[in-house]
Amino acid sequence: MIAMDERSPDHAWWQRGVIYQIYPRSFQDSDGDGIGDLAGIERRLDYLVALGVDAVWLSPIYPSPMADFGYDVADYCDVDPIFGDLAGFDRLLAAVHARGLKLILDFVPNHTSDRHPWFEESRASRDSAKRDWYIWRDPAPGGGPPNNWISDFGGPAWEWDGATGQYYLHAFLKEQPDLNWRNPQVGAAMREALRFWLDRGVDGFRIDVLWHIVKDAAFPDNPLNPAWTPAMTERDKVLQLHSTDQPEAHAISADFRALADGYGGKVLIGEIFLPNDRHARWYGTAERPQVHLPFNFQLIECAWNAAGLRRTIAEYEASLPRFGWPNWVIGSHDAPRIAARLGEAQARVAAMLVLTLRGTPTLYQGDELGIGEVPIPPERIRDPQHFRQPHLGIGRDRSRTPMPWDASPFAGFSAVEPWLPLNPDWPRRNVANQAGDPGSMLALYRRLLGLRRAHPALSVGSLHLLEAEDEVLAYERRAGDERLLVALNLGSAPRRLPLPTDAAIDETVGTTLVDPSTGPELAPDEGRIVRLARAR
Ligand code: GLC
Ligand code: MG
Repeated sequence: MIAMDERSPDHAWWQRGVIYQIYPRSFQDSDGDGIGDLAGIERRLDYLVALGVDAVWLSPIYPSPMADFGYDVADYCDVDPIFGDLAGFDRLLAAVHARGLKLILDFVPNHTSDRHPWFEESRASRDSAKRDWYIWRDPAPGGGPPNNWISDFGGPAWEWDGATGQYYLHAFLKEQPDLNWRNPQVGAAMREALRFWLDRGVDGFRIDVLWHIVKDAAFPDNPLNPAWTPAMTERDKVLQLHSTDQPEAHAISADFRALADGYGGKVLIGEIFLPNDRHARWYGTAERPQVHLPFNFQLIECAWNAAGLRRTIAEYEASLPRFGWPNWVIGSHDAPRIAARLGEAQARVAAMLVLTLRGTPTLYQGDELGIGEVPIPPERIRDPQHFRQPHLGIGRDRSRTPMPWDASPFAGFSAVEPWLPLNPDWPRRNVANQAGDPGSMLALYRRLLGLRRAHPALSVGSLHLLEAEDEVLAYERRAGDERLLVALNLGSAPRRLPLPTDAAIDETVGTTLVDPSTGPELAPDEGRIVRLARAR
Protein backbone atom coordinates (compact mmCIF):
# COMPACT_ATOMS: atom_id res chain seq x y z
CA MET A 1 0.00 0.00 0.00
CA ILE A 2 2.77 2.46 0.94
CA ALA A 3 4.92 3.63 -1.93
CA MET A 4 8.49 2.46 -1.53
CA ASP A 5 11.44 4.72 -1.93
CA GLU A 6 14.90 4.15 -3.29
CA ARG A 7 16.72 5.50 -0.21
CA SER A 8 14.63 4.26 2.67
CA PRO A 9 12.79 1.12 1.66
CA ASP A 10 10.46 1.21 4.64
CA HIS A 11 9.18 4.74 4.32
CA ALA A 12 7.65 6.83 1.57
CA TRP A 13 8.90 10.30 0.72
CA TRP A 14 5.88 11.90 2.38
CA GLN A 15 6.69 10.08 5.62
CA ARG A 16 10.41 10.91 5.76
CA GLY A 17 10.11 14.35 4.23
CA VAL A 18 9.04 17.82 5.28
CA ILE A 19 6.31 19.73 3.46
CA TYR A 20 6.55 23.46 2.87
CA GLN A 21 3.41 25.44 2.06
CA ILE A 22 3.70 28.23 -0.49
CA TYR A 23 0.98 30.84 -0.73
CA PRO A 24 1.58 31.69 -4.40
CA ARG A 25 0.29 35.26 -4.25
CA SER A 26 2.97 36.08 -1.71
CA PHE A 27 6.08 34.06 -2.50
CA GLN A 28 7.76 35.85 -5.42
CA ASP A 29 6.45 38.16 -8.11
CA SER A 30 8.21 37.87 -11.47
CA ASP A 31 6.15 40.14 -13.74
CA GLY A 32 5.84 43.29 -11.70
CA ASP A 33 2.15 43.20 -10.84
CA GLY A 34 2.76 43.03 -7.09
CA ILE A 35 1.36 39.48 -6.91
CA GLY A 36 3.46 36.33 -6.71
CA ASP A 37 3.37 33.87 -9.59
CA LEU A 38 4.65 30.51 -10.81
CA ALA A 39 7.71 31.91 -12.57
CA GLY A 40 8.57 33.64 -9.30
CA ILE A 41 8.33 30.35 -7.40
CA GLU A 42 10.56 28.70 -10.01
CA ARG A 43 13.19 31.40 -9.44
CA ARG A 44 13.25 30.69 -5.72
CA LEU A 45 13.45 26.90 -5.75
CA ASP A 46 17.10 26.85 -4.76
CA TYR A 47 16.10 28.64 -1.58
CA LEU A 48 13.90 25.67 -0.71
CA VAL A 49 16.71 23.24 -1.48
CA ALA A 50 19.08 25.18 0.78
CA LEU A 51 16.39 25.33 3.46
CA GLY A 52 16.17 21.54 3.34
CA VAL A 53 12.50 20.78 2.74
CA ASP A 54 11.32 17.92 0.54
CA ALA A 55 7.93 18.84 -0.88
CA VAL A 56 6.12 22.01 -1.79
CA TRP A 57 2.37 22.43 -1.46
CA LEU A 58 0.93 25.30 -3.47
CA SER A 59 -2.30 26.96 -2.39
CA PRO A 60 -4.68 27.13 -5.40
CA ILE A 61 -3.31 28.38 -8.72
CA TYR A 62 -6.46 27.76 -10.80
CA PRO A 63 -8.47 30.40 -12.68
CA SER A 64 -10.48 32.21 -10.06
CA PRO A 65 -12.34 35.49 -9.50
CA MET A 66 -10.30 35.52 -6.23
CA ALA A 67 -13.25 36.19 -3.95
CA ASP A 68 -11.44 33.84 -1.54
CA PHE A 69 -8.04 34.18 -3.24
CA GLY A 70 -8.18 31.03 -5.30
CA TYR A 71 -10.31 28.85 -3.03
CA ASP A 72 -13.13 29.85 -5.39
CA VAL A 73 -12.18 27.82 -8.47
CA ALA A 74 -13.63 28.68 -11.89
CA ASP A 75 -11.75 25.96 -13.81
CA TYR A 76 -10.04 22.96 -12.21
CA CYS A 77 -7.83 22.26 -15.23
CA ASP A 78 -6.00 25.49 -15.92
CA VAL A 79 -3.82 28.17 -14.32
CA ASP A 80 -5.02 31.67 -13.48
CA PRO A 81 -3.30 34.27 -15.71
CA ILE A 82 -2.20 36.09 -12.55
CA PHE A 83 -0.01 33.07 -11.77
CA GLY A 84 0.99 32.06 -15.31
CA ASP A 85 -0.23 29.37 -17.67
CA LEU A 86 -0.07 25.60 -18.13
CA ALA A 87 3.25 25.76 -19.96
CA GLY A 88 4.67 27.74 -17.04
CA PHE A 89 3.25 25.17 -14.67
CA ASP A 90 4.97 22.36 -16.57
CA ARG A 91 8.23 24.28 -16.39
CA LEU A 92 7.84 24.76 -12.68
CA LEU A 93 7.03 21.10 -12.12
CA ALA A 94 10.08 20.02 -14.13
CA ALA A 95 12.27 22.44 -12.17
CA VAL A 96 10.89 21.12 -8.88
CA HIS A 97 11.56 17.54 -9.89
CA ALA A 98 15.01 18.38 -11.23
CA ARG A 99 15.91 19.40 -7.69
CA GLY A 100 14.58 16.21 -6.16
CA LEU A 101 11.58 18.00 -4.65
CA LYS A 102 7.91 17.01 -4.88
CA LEU A 103 4.99 19.23 -5.85
CA ILE A 104 1.59 19.02 -4.17
CA LEU A 105 -1.40 20.97 -5.47
CA ASP A 106 -4.44 22.21 -3.59
CA PHE A 107 -7.68 20.50 -4.60
CA VAL A 108 -10.95 22.23 -3.69
CA PRO A 109 -13.79 19.72 -4.02
CA ASN A 110 -16.39 21.13 -1.62
CA HIS A 111 -17.31 24.18 -3.68
CA THR A 112 -16.55 26.01 -6.89
CA SER A 113 -16.64 29.69 -7.73
CA ASP A 114 -20.09 31.06 -8.52
CA ARG A 115 -18.49 31.95 -11.86
CA HIS A 116 -17.58 28.35 -12.68
CA PRO A 117 -19.45 27.39 -15.88
CA TRP A 118 -21.00 24.49 -13.94
CA PHE A 119 -22.66 26.86 -11.50
CA GLU A 120 -23.65 29.33 -14.18
CA GLU A 121 -25.41 26.47 -15.95
CA SER A 122 -26.88 25.19 -12.69
CA ARG A 123 -28.40 28.51 -11.71
CA ALA A 124 -29.72 29.24 -15.23
CA SER A 125 -32.97 27.36 -14.61
CA ARG A 126 -34.56 24.71 -12.45
CA ASP A 127 -34.47 22.33 -15.43
CA SER A 128 -30.80 22.85 -16.18
CA ALA A 129 -28.88 19.62 -16.73
CA LYS A 130 -26.48 20.74 -14.00
CA ARG A 131 -29.15 22.00 -11.56
CA ASP A 132 -28.44 19.04 -9.28
CA TRP A 133 -24.65 19.57 -9.36
CA TYR A 134 -25.15 22.11 -6.57
CA ILE A 135 -27.41 22.13 -3.53
CA TRP A 136 -30.68 23.92 -4.24
CA ARG A 137 -33.59 23.99 -1.77
CA ASP A 138 -36.96 25.65 -1.48
CA PRO A 139 -37.48 28.17 1.32
CA ALA A 140 -38.54 26.85 4.73
CA PRO A 141 -42.33 26.35 5.03
CA GLY A 142 -42.74 29.74 6.73
CA GLY A 143 -40.29 31.40 4.31
CA GLY A 144 -36.59 32.11 4.80
CA PRO A 145 -33.58 29.80 4.49
CA PRO A 146 -34.22 26.02 4.43
CA ASN A 147 -32.46 25.45 7.77
CA ASN A 148 -30.24 27.12 10.39
CA TRP A 149 -26.87 26.28 8.89
CA ILE A 150 -24.27 29.04 9.18
CA SER A 151 -21.46 29.82 6.78
CA ASP A 152 -17.94 29.30 8.14
CA PHE A 153 -17.37 32.96 7.30
CA GLY A 154 -20.51 34.07 9.21
CA GLY A 155 -24.12 34.63 8.18
CA PRO A 156 -26.58 32.08 6.77
CA ALA A 157 -25.11 29.30 4.62
CA TRP A 158 -27.98 29.80 2.13
CA GLU A 159 -28.21 32.40 -0.62
CA TRP A 160 -31.50 33.29 -2.27
CA ASP A 161 -31.61 33.12 -6.05
CA GLY A 162 -34.55 35.29 -7.13
CA ALA A 163 -34.45 34.18 -10.76
CA THR A 164 -35.22 30.52 -10.00
CA GLY A 165 -36.88 31.01 -6.61
CA GLN A 166 -34.63 28.71 -4.57
CA TYR A 167 -31.75 28.94 -2.13
CA TYR A 168 -28.30 27.45 -2.77
CA LEU A 169 -25.93 26.26 -0.07
CA HIS A 170 -22.50 27.80 0.51
CA ALA A 171 -20.43 26.64 3.49
CA PHE A 172 -18.08 29.59 2.86
CA LEU A 173 -18.72 32.75 0.78
CA LYS A 174 -21.85 33.08 -1.33
CA GLU A 175 -19.34 33.23 -4.20
CA GLN A 176 -18.41 29.62 -3.27
CA PRO A 177 -21.51 27.46 -3.87
CA ASP A 178 -21.21 23.92 -2.46
CA LEU A 179 -21.17 21.08 -4.94
CA ASN A 180 -23.64 18.22 -4.54
CA TRP A 181 -21.41 15.18 -4.05
CA ARG A 182 -24.47 12.93 -3.89
CA ASN A 183 -24.69 13.41 -7.64
CA PRO A 184 -22.28 10.87 -9.21
CA GLN A 185 -21.58 13.20 -12.15
CA VAL A 186 -19.90 15.63 -9.78
CA GLY A 187 -17.52 12.97 -8.53
CA ALA A 188 -16.75 11.86 -12.05
CA ALA A 189 -15.95 15.42 -13.18
CA MET A 190 -13.77 16.06 -10.15
CA ARG A 191 -11.85 12.81 -10.49
CA GLU A 192 -11.17 13.82 -14.07
CA ALA A 193 -9.61 17.03 -12.74
CA LEU A 194 -7.40 15.01 -10.40
CA ARG A 195 -6.26 12.85 -13.31
CA PHE A 196 -5.53 15.94 -15.38
CA TRP A 197 -2.86 17.01 -12.87
CA LEU A 198 -1.63 13.53 -11.94
CA ASP A 199 -1.08 12.83 -15.64
CA ARG A 200 1.01 16.02 -15.78
CA GLY A 201 3.15 14.57 -13.00
CA VAL A 202 2.12 16.27 -9.75
CA ASP A 203 2.99 14.30 -6.63
CA GLY A 204 -0.24 14.70 -4.71
CA PHE A 205 -2.95 16.95 -3.39
CA ARG A 206 -3.90 18.78 -0.27
CA ILE A 207 -7.69 18.47 -0.23
CA ASP A 208 -9.52 21.56 0.97
CA VAL A 209 -12.15 21.17 3.75
CA LEU A 210 -12.50 17.46 3.02
CA TRP A 211 -14.79 16.79 5.96
CA HIS A 212 -17.34 19.23 4.54
CA ILE A 213 -18.02 17.60 1.19
CA VAL A 214 -21.22 15.67 2.01
CA LYS A 215 -24.22 16.96 4.00
CA ASP A 216 -27.05 15.08 5.70
CA ALA A 217 -29.51 14.30 2.90
CA ALA A 218 -32.47 15.48 5.02
CA PHE A 219 -30.88 18.88 5.80
CA PRO A 220 -32.02 19.02 9.45
CA ASP A 221 -31.19 22.04 11.61
CA ASN A 222 -27.81 21.83 13.30
CA PRO A 223 -27.98 21.73 17.12
CA LEU A 224 -27.23 25.01 18.88
CA ASN A 225 -23.89 25.23 20.64
CA PRO A 226 -24.58 25.78 24.35
CA ALA A 227 -21.02 27.08 24.87
CA TRP A 228 -21.29 29.89 22.32
CA THR A 229 -20.36 33.44 23.38
CA PRO A 230 -20.26 36.63 21.25
CA ALA A 231 -16.46 36.48 21.31
CA MET A 232 -16.70 33.36 19.14
CA THR A 233 -17.38 33.21 15.41
CA GLU A 234 -20.94 33.08 14.16
CA ARG A 235 -20.25 29.66 12.76
CA ASP A 236 -19.72 28.39 16.29
CA LYS A 237 -23.33 29.23 17.22
CA VAL A 238 -24.25 25.79 15.96
CA LEU A 239 -22.50 22.42 16.07
CA GLN A 240 -21.90 21.30 12.49
CA LEU A 241 -23.37 17.89 13.16
CA HIS A 242 -25.41 17.55 9.98
CA SER A 243 -23.43 19.77 7.62
CA THR A 244 -20.01 18.08 7.97
CA ASP A 245 -18.31 14.70 8.60
CA GLN A 246 -21.01 12.52 7.06
CA PRO A 247 -20.35 8.79 6.55
CA GLU A 248 -20.78 9.11 2.77
CA ALA A 249 -17.82 11.49 2.60
CA HIS A 250 -15.49 8.71 3.71
CA ALA A 251 -16.42 6.63 0.68
CA ILE A 252 -15.54 9.56 -1.58
CA SER A 253 -12.26 10.03 0.24
CA ALA A 254 -11.49 6.32 -0.31
CA ASP A 255 -12.25 6.76 -4.03
CA PHE A 256 -9.76 9.64 -4.21
CA ARG A 257 -7.19 7.39 -2.61
CA ALA A 258 -7.85 4.52 -5.00
CA LEU A 259 -7.38 6.91 -7.89
CA ALA A 260 -4.10 8.26 -6.46
CA ASP A 261 -2.82 4.74 -5.70
CA GLY A 262 -3.39 3.86 -9.34
CA TYR A 263 -0.47 6.19 -10.10
CA GLY A 264 1.86 5.12 -7.27
CA GLY A 265 4.05 7.27 -5.05
CA LYS A 266 1.44 10.02 -4.63
CA VAL A 267 0.21 11.61 -1.41
CA LEU A 268 -3.22 12.82 -0.37
CA ILE A 269 -3.52 15.23 2.53
CA GLY A 270 -6.94 16.11 3.91
CA GLU A 271 -7.78 19.40 5.58
CA ILE A 272 -9.84 18.17 8.50
CA PHE A 273 -10.74 19.86 11.77
CA LEU A 274 -12.29 17.28 14.11
CA PRO A 275 -11.66 15.73 17.52
CA ASN A 276 -9.15 12.84 17.50
CA ASP A 277 -11.60 9.95 17.30
CA ARG A 278 -13.45 11.32 14.28
CA HIS A 279 -10.27 12.73 12.77
CA ALA A 280 -8.57 9.33 12.75
CA ARG A 281 -11.38 7.83 10.68
CA TRP A 282 -10.14 9.81 7.67
CA TYR A 283 -7.21 7.42 7.40
CA GLY A 284 -9.78 4.81 6.45
CA THR A 285 -8.88 1.18 7.03
CA ALA A 286 -5.88 -0.85 5.93
CA GLU A 287 -8.10 -2.54 3.32
CA ARG A 288 -9.77 0.65 2.12
CA PRO A 289 -7.46 3.56 2.99
CA GLN A 290 -8.46 7.20 2.61
CA VAL A 291 -6.06 10.13 2.85
CA HIS A 292 -2.43 9.43 3.77
CA LEU A 293 -2.30 12.45 6.06
CA PRO A 294 -5.37 13.98 7.64
CA PHE A 295 -3.84 17.34 8.53
CA ASN A 296 -3.26 17.66 12.27
CA PHE A 297 -3.58 21.29 13.42
CA GLN A 298 -3.29 20.68 17.14
CA LEU A 299 0.00 22.53 17.57
CA ILE A 300 -1.76 25.62 16.24
CA GLU A 301 -4.79 25.15 18.45
CA CYS A 302 -3.56 23.86 21.80
CA ALA A 303 -2.38 25.96 24.73
CA TRP A 304 1.39 26.40 24.79
CA ASN A 305 2.46 24.65 27.96
CA ALA A 306 4.36 21.44 28.57
CA ALA A 307 1.55 19.51 30.24
CA GLY A 308 -0.96 20.44 27.55
CA LEU A 309 1.40 19.63 24.70
CA ARG A 310 2.36 16.35 26.29
CA ARG A 311 -1.29 15.35 26.57
CA THR A 312 -1.98 16.52 23.02
CA ILE A 313 0.87 14.42 21.63
CA ALA A 314 -0.03 11.34 23.67
CA GLU A 315 -3.72 11.48 22.80
CA TYR A 316 -3.09 12.11 19.12
CA GLU A 317 -0.59 9.24 18.91
CA ALA A 318 -3.03 6.95 20.72
CA SER A 319 -5.83 7.85 18.31
CA LEU A 320 -3.94 6.79 15.17
CA PRO A 321 -4.85 3.55 13.45
CA ARG A 322 -2.02 1.00 13.43
CA PHE A 323 -1.09 1.84 9.83
CA GLY A 324 -1.70 5.60 10.17
CA TRP A 325 1.28 7.94 9.79
CA PRO A 326 1.15 11.05 12.02
CA ASN A 327 1.68 14.63 10.89
CA TRP A 328 1.98 18.06 12.49
CA VAL A 329 1.22 21.50 11.07
CA ILE A 330 2.81 24.59 12.61
CA GLY A 331 1.40 27.40 10.46
CA SER A 332 -0.81 28.13 7.46
CA HIS A 333 -2.37 30.86 5.36
CA ASP A 334 -5.41 30.67 7.65
CA ALA A 335 -3.81 30.64 11.11
CA PRO A 336 -2.09 33.47 12.99
CA ARG A 337 1.72 33.42 12.66
CA ILE A 338 3.37 31.16 15.22
CA ALA A 339 5.86 33.90 16.17
CA ALA A 340 2.98 36.35 16.68
CA ARG A 341 1.34 33.87 18.99
CA LEU A 342 4.35 32.69 21.01
CA GLY A 343 7.00 35.37 20.56
CA GLU A 344 10.32 34.77 18.87
CA ALA A 345 12.02 32.80 21.65
CA GLN A 346 9.24 30.21 21.91
CA ALA A 347 8.80 30.19 18.13
CA ARG A 348 12.33 28.77 18.05
CA VAL A 349 11.26 26.07 20.49
CA ALA A 350 8.19 25.41 18.34
CA ALA A 351 10.46 24.95 15.31
CA MET A 352 12.40 22.29 17.16
CA LEU A 353 9.17 20.65 18.33
CA VAL A 354 7.55 20.36 14.91
CA LEU A 355 10.78 19.14 13.31
CA THR A 356 11.49 16.48 15.93
CA LEU A 357 8.04 15.02 16.59
CA ARG A 358 7.08 11.72 15.00
CA GLY A 359 5.23 12.40 11.78
CA THR A 360 5.42 14.56 8.69
CA PRO A 361 5.86 18.27 9.49
CA THR A 362 4.21 20.96 7.38
CA LEU A 363 5.88 24.38 7.50
CA TYR A 364 4.36 27.60 6.25
CA GLN A 365 6.35 30.13 4.21
CA GLY A 366 7.78 32.95 6.28
CA ASP A 367 7.62 31.13 9.61
CA GLU A 368 11.23 30.13 8.99
CA LEU A 369 12.05 33.85 9.21
CA GLY A 370 10.06 34.30 12.40
CA ILE A 371 7.67 36.79 10.84
CA GLY A 372 5.41 37.94 13.67
CA GLU A 373 2.35 40.14 13.84
CA VAL A 374 1.96 42.30 10.71
CA PRO A 375 -0.36 45.24 11.17
CA ILE A 376 -2.61 45.67 8.12
CA PRO A 377 -3.88 49.25 7.68
CA PRO A 378 -7.67 49.23 7.20
CA GLU A 379 -7.49 50.36 3.57
CA ARG A 380 -5.22 47.43 2.71
CA ILE A 381 -7.33 44.66 4.21
CA ARG A 382 -8.23 42.04 1.57
CA ASP A 383 -9.39 38.90 3.36
CA PRO A 384 -13.13 38.25 2.95
CA GLN A 385 -13.20 36.48 6.31
CA HIS A 386 -12.39 39.82 7.93
CA PHE A 387 -15.12 41.73 6.11
CA ARG A 388 -17.80 39.22 7.11
CA GLN A 389 -17.06 39.56 10.85
CA PRO A 390 -14.84 42.63 11.28
CA HIS A 391 -15.31 42.86 15.05
CA LEU A 392 -13.56 39.52 15.69
CA GLY A 393 -10.10 40.44 14.40
CA ILE A 394 -9.74 37.11 12.60
CA GLY A 395 -8.51 38.53 9.30
CA ARG A 396 -6.00 36.22 7.63
CA ASP A 397 -4.06 38.88 5.69
CA ARG A 398 -1.48 39.14 8.48
CA SER A 399 -0.30 35.60 7.68
CA ARG A 400 -0.36 36.12 3.92
CA THR A 401 2.08 39.02 3.57
CA PRO A 402 4.84 38.74 0.94
CA MET A 403 8.11 36.92 1.55
CA PRO A 404 10.86 39.42 2.38
CA TRP A 405 13.87 38.25 0.37
CA ASP A 406 16.37 41.06 0.85
CA ALA A 407 16.73 44.73 1.75
CA SER A 408 16.14 46.05 -1.79
CA PRO A 409 12.92 47.98 -2.54
CA PHE A 410 9.79 45.91 -1.79
CA ALA A 411 12.08 43.32 -0.19
CA GLY A 412 12.98 41.73 -3.51
CA PHE A 413 9.45 40.33 -3.67
CA SER A 414 8.31 42.60 -6.48
CA ALA A 415 9.30 45.66 -8.48
CA VAL A 416 6.14 47.42 -7.27
CA GLU A 417 4.14 47.81 -4.09
CA PRO A 418 2.91 44.29 -3.22
CA TRP A 419 -0.78 43.37 -2.94
CA LEU A 420 -0.42 43.15 0.85
CA PRO A 421 2.05 45.08 3.00
CA LEU A 422 5.36 43.54 3.99
CA ASN A 423 6.24 42.70 7.58
CA PRO A 424 7.26 46.07 9.07
CA ASP A 425 10.71 44.77 10.08
CA TRP A 426 11.52 43.47 6.55
CA PRO A 427 14.66 45.61 6.09
CA ARG A 428 16.17 43.44 8.82
CA ARG A 429 13.97 40.37 8.85
CA ASN A 430 14.58 39.02 5.37
CA VAL A 431 16.12 35.94 3.79
CA ALA A 432 19.42 37.52 2.68
CA ASN A 433 20.04 38.97 6.10
CA GLN A 434 19.16 35.83 8.03
CA ALA A 435 21.06 33.53 5.69
CA GLY A 436 24.31 35.12 6.84
CA ASP A 437 23.45 35.15 10.55
CA PRO A 438 23.96 31.91 12.49
CA GLY A 439 21.70 33.24 15.23
CA SER A 440 18.74 33.79 12.93
CA MET A 441 15.50 31.85 12.78
CA LEU A 442 16.37 30.83 9.22
CA ALA A 443 19.71 29.41 10.31
CA LEU A 444 17.91 27.47 13.06
CA TYR A 445 15.40 26.02 10.59
CA ARG A 446 18.22 25.00 8.25
CA ARG A 447 20.09 23.31 11.10
CA LEU A 448 16.99 21.49 12.30
CA LEU A 449 16.01 20.37 8.82
CA GLY A 450 19.57 19.15 8.31
CA LEU A 451 19.42 17.17 11.56
CA ARG A 452 16.08 15.65 10.64
CA ARG A 453 17.53 14.56 7.33
CA ALA A 454 20.73 13.18 8.88
CA HIS A 455 19.09 11.26 11.73
CA PRO A 456 16.51 8.59 10.87
CA ALA A 457 15.60 8.62 14.58
CA LEU A 458 14.13 12.09 14.01
CA SER A 459 12.35 11.41 10.74
CA VAL A 460 11.09 7.86 11.08
CA GLY A 461 12.06 6.73 14.59
CA SER A 462 9.74 5.80 17.40
CA LEU A 463 8.62 8.38 19.96
CA HIS A 464 8.67 8.00 23.74
CA LEU A 465 7.35 10.79 25.96
CA LEU A 466 9.32 11.36 29.16
CA GLU A 467 8.40 12.67 32.57
CA ALA A 468 10.00 16.05 33.17
CA GLU A 469 9.94 19.11 35.38
CA ASP A 470 7.25 21.71 34.99
CA GLU A 471 7.48 23.66 31.77
CA VAL A 472 9.73 21.06 30.17
CA LEU A 473 8.48 18.87 27.34
CA ALA A 474 10.79 15.93 26.68
CA TYR A 475 10.75 12.86 24.52
CA GLU A 476 13.05 10.32 23.02
CA ARG A 477 13.26 9.39 19.35
CA ARG A 478 14.78 6.03 18.55
CA ALA A 479 15.81 4.24 15.38
CA GLY A 480 18.21 1.31 15.21
CA ASP A 481 20.90 1.92 17.83
CA GLU A 482 20.37 5.64 17.93
CA ARG A 483 18.58 7.30 20.82
CA LEU A 484 18.00 11.05 20.69
CA LEU A 485 16.54 13.03 23.55
CA VAL A 486 14.62 16.20 22.72
CA ALA A 487 14.06 18.52 25.67
CA LEU A 488 12.18 21.78 25.29
CA ASN A 489 12.05 24.48 27.94
CA LEU A 490 8.74 26.28 27.46
CA GLY A 491 9.40 28.60 30.36
CA SER A 492 11.64 31.53 31.19
CA ALA A 493 13.60 29.91 34.03
CA PRO A 494 16.47 27.43 33.71
CA ARG A 495 15.36 23.81 34.08
CA ARG A 496 17.07 20.49 34.63
CA LEU A 497 17.62 18.44 31.48
CA PRO A 498 15.53 15.31 32.05
CA LEU A 499 17.23 11.97 31.42
CA PRO A 500 15.75 8.50 31.09
CA THR A 501 17.01 6.37 33.99
CA ASP A 502 18.85 3.94 31.72
CA ALA A 503 20.70 6.61 29.76
CA ALA A 504 23.50 9.15 29.96
CA ILE A 505 24.29 12.12 27.73
CA ASP A 506 26.64 11.24 24.91
CA GLU A 507 26.76 14.57 23.10
CA THR A 508 24.67 17.61 22.21
CA VAL A 509 23.37 17.27 18.69
CA GLY A 510 21.48 20.54 18.39
CA THR A 511 20.11 23.49 20.32
CA THR A 512 17.83 26.43 19.64
CA LEU A 513 20.47 28.66 21.23
CA VAL A 514 23.11 30.38 19.20
CA ASP A 515 25.97 28.96 21.25
CA PRO A 516 25.74 25.21 21.76
CA SER A 517 25.14 24.41 25.39
CA THR A 518 26.29 21.22 27.02
CA GLY A 519 25.55 21.66 30.72
CA PRO A 520 22.93 19.68 32.65
CA GLU A 521 20.55 22.64 32.59
CA LEU A 522 18.28 23.90 29.86
CA ALA A 523 18.50 27.66 29.52
CA PRO A 524 15.24 29.66 29.47
CA ASP A 525 13.45 29.07 26.15
CA GLU A 526 16.03 26.49 25.13
CA GLY A 527 15.29 23.42 23.10
CA ARG A 528 18.06 20.84 22.93
CA ILE A 529 18.66 17.55 21.16
CA VAL A 530 21.18 15.19 22.74
CA ARG A 531 22.39 11.78 21.77
CA LEU A 532 21.94 9.27 24.56
CA ALA A 533 24.32 6.54 25.55
CA ARG A 534 23.51 3.60 27.76
CA ALA A 535 24.12 4.47 31.43
CA ARG A 536 27.03 2.59 32.96
C1 GLC B 1 -9.84 26.16 3.61
C2 GLC B 1 -8.76 27.09 3.15
C3 GLC B 1 -9.22 28.51 3.39
C4 GLC B 1 -10.47 28.74 2.58
C5 GLC B 1 -11.54 27.70 2.91
C6 GLC B 1 -12.64 27.70 1.90
O1 GLC B 1 -10.04 26.22 4.97
O2 GLC B 1 -7.56 26.80 3.80
O3 GLC B 1 -8.23 29.43 3.05
O4 GLC B 1 -10.97 30.03 2.83
O5 GLC B 1 -11.01 26.40 2.91
O6 GLC B 1 -12.20 27.14 0.70
MG1 MG C 1 3.14 38.54 -10.64
